[in-house]
Amino acid sequence: MIKKLLPYMEKYKWQAILSPIIIIIDVMGDIFIPYLMSLIVDVGIANQDLSYIFKIGLLMISITIAATIIAIFSTRLGAEAGFGFASEIRREAYKKIQDFSFANLDELHTSTLITRITNDTNTLGQVTMMTLRMAVRSPFLLIFALIMAFRINASLARVFLVVIPLMVIGTFLVLKKARPLFDMMQSRVDDINRVIRENLIGIRVVKSFNRQDYAEDQFKEKNDNLQATSLEAISLIVTVMPLLNLLVYSCILAVLWFGGAMVVEGSMKKGALISFITYIMQIMMSLMMLSNYFMQATRGAASAKRIIEVLETEPDIVSPENGITLVEDGSIDFKNVCFKYPLSSELALKDIDFSIASGERVGIIGSTGSSKSTLIQLIPRLYDASRGQVLVAGRDVKDYDIKALRDQVSVVLQTNTLFSGTIRDNMLWGDEGADDEKIIWALKKAQAWDFVKDYEDGLGHLVEQGGTNFSGGQRQRLSIARSLMKNPKVLILDDSTSAVDVATDAKIRAEFKKDLAGITTIIIAQRVSSVMDADKIIVMEKGQINAMGNHDALLETSQVYKEIYSSQQKGLAS
Ligand SMILES: Nc1ncnc2c1ncn2[C@@H]1O[C@H](COP(=O)(O)OP(=O)(O)OP(=O)(O)O)[C@@H](O)[C@H]1O
Ligand SMILES: [Mg+2]
Repeated sequence: MIKKLLPYMEKYKWQAILSPIIIIIDVMGDIFIPYLMSLIVDVGIANQDLSYIFKIGLLMISITIAATIIAIFSTRLGAEAGFGFASEIRREAYKKIQDFSFANLDELHTSTLITRITNDTNTLGQVTMMTLRMAVRSPFLLIFALIMAFRINASLARVFLVVIPLMVIGTFLVLKKARPLFDMMQSRVDDINRVIRENLIGIRVVKSFNRQDYAEDQFKEKNDNLQATSLEAISLIVTVMPLLNLLVYSCILAVLWFGGAMVVEGSMKKGALISFITYIMQIMMSLMMLSNYFMQATRGAASAKRIIEVLETEPDIVSPENGITLVEDGSIDFKNVCFKYPLSSELALKDIDFSIASGERVGIIGSTGSSKSTLIQLIPRLYDASRGQVLVAGRDVKDYDIKALRDQVSVVLQTNTLFSGTIRDNMLWGDEGADDEKIIWALKKAQAWDFVKDYEDGLGHLVEQGGTNFSGGQRQRLSIARSLMKNPKVLILDDSTSAVDVATDAKIRAEFKKDLAGITTIIIAQRVSSVMDADKIIVMEKGQINAMGNHDALLETSQVYKEIYSSQQKGLAS
């Protein structure tokens, strides 16, 4: 795990190396102080030499000040390395996610990606910082203090042979139990994020259905789960601390008992006993720090595992090397295409076979869930066909440079979104270098200029996150305009005028017919009126093509089409 993440430390390697090195100087200070203390007692006080006491005292203070400054400096370097490291990983993970295909996103959900990129990288940064400090400082302190203790009185120091193994075994046992709890804690945080995301993004729907209670209950359940798991993990850890304390004080008591006897006997000096006890404290403190560190490191390991999972997910749709960058024309062929969603067991598309000539206007109609959206997502390679071949301008979509393909096959997705910024910013997504004239042209084609021109700030009008300050129909028209900005060879509208009134819908289609003559347009719609005048209509049913032809032909040949048409006519008549 460390090997996989280490490269992200590259930029902060000096901080990461220096921080532990200079902390050793701090440890030396800590080790030296008790020794000086014993000199004061055994030499200074014993000889009643005030100037000696003053001299050693001054030395103690200077060492402490120097050690403090060094400790601050080392902490600062450690923090720089830890948080810099986390930020590098965060950036890399974010970049990686941008390359994820729709199929990748079906497998790793957005909510867990958010937790991994925020919470987990943060934990990792903190643990790294601790590693640079504690994981170096504590073992050094432990070893040097042990050496000093043995030097002062080897027989008394044998008490450690009992205490240290006890502490190590205890910590190990607790960690073994705590580890799965930490893993669980992270996935519980995922759960909470998922519920928050879903209910906050859909908060307007939640309110209109009076589902606040349900949303609250759902949240409460996830929140309680997290609380319970955290409590379990923390209780386990906090019981360790008092137990370690008990060990420390028993140890001191034992040393005072036996050491006291030695002092009375005259085989040990008073100052030596005092410094011995200080070393015990240091040994015990560093052991406690180490065991605390290992617990944090366990948490960090759980997070690291989750981050590596993101970093190692291979985007399953990648651009080929030297992919074709020009889509010659707008013709489209599906050859025996089958498709299955990654997490589903059934085929969403079965044996799809059809051809669309360049410049044709095609309608797709069919009941909801009949895989209309699935079908068109294969054209710009948002998903790859599981079997068969999808061709654009006579070439397999897999041969195109992905960016070029998606620029020239422009889709208005059924679940489209606008982004925070101005209307102009949103339009520029389609063509970064466009001037206002082109933006206005696209807005006019999509029948959006009507309302945009009425804004005092026009194209500079602000779009809230998700476009919530526009009506559904306005949002759809802006999305269509944004797609037009790309000058595509193929334009696909997935149910993109569902919220637009029939008259405006007709106007949009009339504009397309007039001006976008060379462009292949595919319009998915629920209303027959939206596709009636298309050159060709594909009728979808349960993932298969039920029939294909123009309106008049389909009325003759397709029962499904006839039913859809007559049900909508009836709707109009009543
Ligand atoms: N990301 C996904 N993962 C798994 N299954 C999916 C996914 N998206 C859609 N499906 C399933 O694929 C089938 C076809 O869905 P699709 O969205 O293509 O239908 P549609 O014809 O566009 O419907 P609508 O008219 O309601 O938009 C449905 O049964 C749906 O449950
Ligand atoms: Mg759909």
